[in-house]
Amino acid sequence: MIRIDSVWYEYPSGTVALRNVNLVIDRGEIVALMGENGAGKTTLLKHLNGLLKPTSGKVEVDGVDTRTTTVASLSRHVGLVFQNPDNMFFCTSVFEEVSYALTRFGYSREEARRRAEVVLKTFNLWQYRDSSPFTLSGGEKKRLAISIVLAWMPSYVVIDEPTTGLDGWGKRMLINLLLNLKDRERGIILSSHDVEFISEIAARVVLLRRGEIIADGAAEDILTDPVLLEEASLLTPQIPSLLHELKKRGFRDLNHKCLRLDEAVRCLSAILGRPDQGCDGF
Ligand SMILES: Nc1ncnc2c1ncn2[C@@H]1O[C@H](COP(=O)(O)OP(=O)(O)O)[C@@H](O)[C@H]1O
Ligand SMILES: [Mg+2]
Repeated sequence: MIRIDSVWYEYPSGTVALRNVNLVIDRGEIVALMGENGAGKTTLLKHLNGLLKPTSGKVEVDGVDTRTTTVASLSRHVGLVFQNPDNMFFCTSVFEEVSYALTRFGYSREEARRRAEVVLKTFNLWQYRDSSPFTLSGGEKKRLAISIVLAWMPSYVVIDEPTTGLDGWGKRMLINLLLNLKDRERGIILSSHDVEFISEIAARVVLLRRGEIIADGAAEDILTDPVLLEEASLLTPQIPSLLHELKKRGFRDLNHKCLRLDEAVRCLSAILGRPDQGCDGF
């Protein structure tokens, strides 16, 4: 597990970006850090692989204090995907970009080639294997950045703003992949403003504001609470917004803690009854 213990972080400029953050993240969990711009999400994610060390307090990854080890050795266990994928690329081809990281972690050339092929095909990037990473579109770069990290299957997958630039297919594929990783006992830590995306993966949500955790709980509790969301400068997702509105208009039995479309349909059908006869064909 990752244990974040009373962490404060002050940038050399004097900005205090984290204030007494306490958090335990287990394998097999998806945790979404959410909150306004400048809340401290990226700063906290960079503590997980040791890129930043706490000014006070400590971060432990599976019992290892991040202050006592190198970023290179932590990265084997904690794969961090940066918000801006360009920061991760330095090879001449998409294929090399994925296989280089693998050989660095000790995989044989053959195993690295095999894994790179699987992951590039999964992310629909195989056709670009000989192209420069810098010629890809924004969403393709994002997919490549994620595939580089997933190729070595770290115990913890950390993705800063995973949905930036992704189209519908990309988001759907990422949801399936993250749920699959969760089932394979990986810990997944994301930062995001995308309330609809986080609703779909039913993550545990940690709300940050000005460097402090202001809420930590199940997505159904946090992403359906308009007061908390407002405090964290987040929008309420569409489905709970609709259910809240209907509830205000007299549908008191509605469960406004639904986040997913299938649950909302079930809940509304129970109240609205069966569709009118004779509607078939419309
Ligand atoms: N390299 C840096 N130097 C100084 N201040 C920074 C740096 N990076 C971020 N900050 C400041 O730290 C705070 C938290 O930033 P960040 O962690 O990037 O927030 P978020 O990812 O939630 O938008 C902000 O006030 C930001 O301006
Ligand atoms: Mg950020």
